[in-house]
Amino acid sequence: MKRYGIARLRAFAKFYNRWRYASQERKHREAYEHDFTRLLDEDGRSTYSWPPKITLKDGWARDDSMTLPFLDRALEQASAIIAERGGRSHHGLQQPFLRGLLFPGDLVKYPALLDFILTPEMLAIAANHLQTVPVLSKTLPPGIRFMESNAALDPDADGPFRESQLYHLDVHDTPLVYVLVLADDVDENTGPWTFLPASVSARATAALRYKQPGVPYRVTDEEMYRVIDPAEAITFTGKKGSVLFIDSSACFHYGSRRAVRPRFQLMYALTTPCRCDITQTVSENKYPIPEGASPLRRMVTAPWKT
Ligand SMILES: [Fe+2]
Repeated sequence: MKRYGIARLRAFAKFYNRWRYASQERKHREAYEHDFTRLLDEDGRSTYSWPPKITLKDGWARDDSMTLPFLDRALEQASAIIAERGGRSHHGLQQPFLRGLLFPGDLVKYPALLDFILTPEMLAIAANHLQTVPVLSKTLPPGIRFMESNAALDPDADGPFRESQLYHLDVHDTPLVYVLVLADDVDENTGPWTFLPASVSARATAALRYKQPGVPYRVTDEEMYRVIDPAEAITFTGKKGSVLFIDSSACFHYGSRRAVRPRFQLMYALTTPCRCDITQTVSENKYPIPEGASPLRRMVTAPWKT
C-alpha cells in the first residue's frame, strides 16, 4: 500500500467495484434520487425529517438529544452485554487495546443494536451524506461493532501508541458515514475517539502528502502537530447515549489511548454500494433480516451474493 500509494489503489478499487457491481450501484442511486421518501415512509418504524435535521458539517455532526429512535433500547441491550462480558479478554485475535464484545448470534439475541441504525431517521442522515441509499458495511470493518477499550487488558498499555491509536484516515470507502454511540460515559481518561474536522484534515493531507507513494498510513502526533494546531483536534467525550456521525475517510482520527476507565462504544459503518477496497469482492457480512423487514432495510443489509 505504501509503495503504490493509497490514493492510486483506492481509485482503482472504486473503478473496479463500479464496473463489477454496476447494477447494485445504479439501484441504490436511483432509489435515492427518485424513490427515497417513499422507501422511508414505507418502513415507517420512526419519524424522520427530509432533508434531515442532523447533517454532517465539515465531515461530522453529534447528537446529544438522547431521543433518536431505538437508542434507549440499544443502550439497554449494550449494558446487558457489558455486564456479561466487559473487563475480560475473550480471545486473542484482537487489538489488545480495542476488543470486540459481540459474539456470533448476538444480532438476533440483541436486535435493538441493528434496529437503531436501520431506522428511517438514521438512514436518512447517512443517505444525505452519501447521496445514495447506504449499505451496512459488507466486509471490513463489520457494519456493527461493540468495542471495549481498556488499558487494563493491554499488556503494552504504557508503550508507544500504535495502530488505530495513531492518526489515520479510513480507506475502505469515501464518502462514508461512521456512527459512534457511547454506551457509557466517556471522559479524557476513557481513551476518547479524537478527530480533526474535514477541512483541517484536508490541510494535513496536503502538508503530509498523505496517501501518496512512500508515505506511511499511520501518522504520529509529532508529525501531525507539525502541520496543524493540536487545538484543532476534537474529542468525542460525553454522556452515555451521545452519538457522533463522522466521515472517517475525510476526518483524521485515533482512539483508545490509555483508557484507564474502560470505554464502551457501538460503532456502525455505512458505506456506498461500491467501495474503495478490493476486499469487497472477497467476503460479505451477513446480517439477520427480520420477517416483514421493509424494502429499505433489505436494501441496506441484504447480501448480494448467495
Ligand atoms: Fe479508523
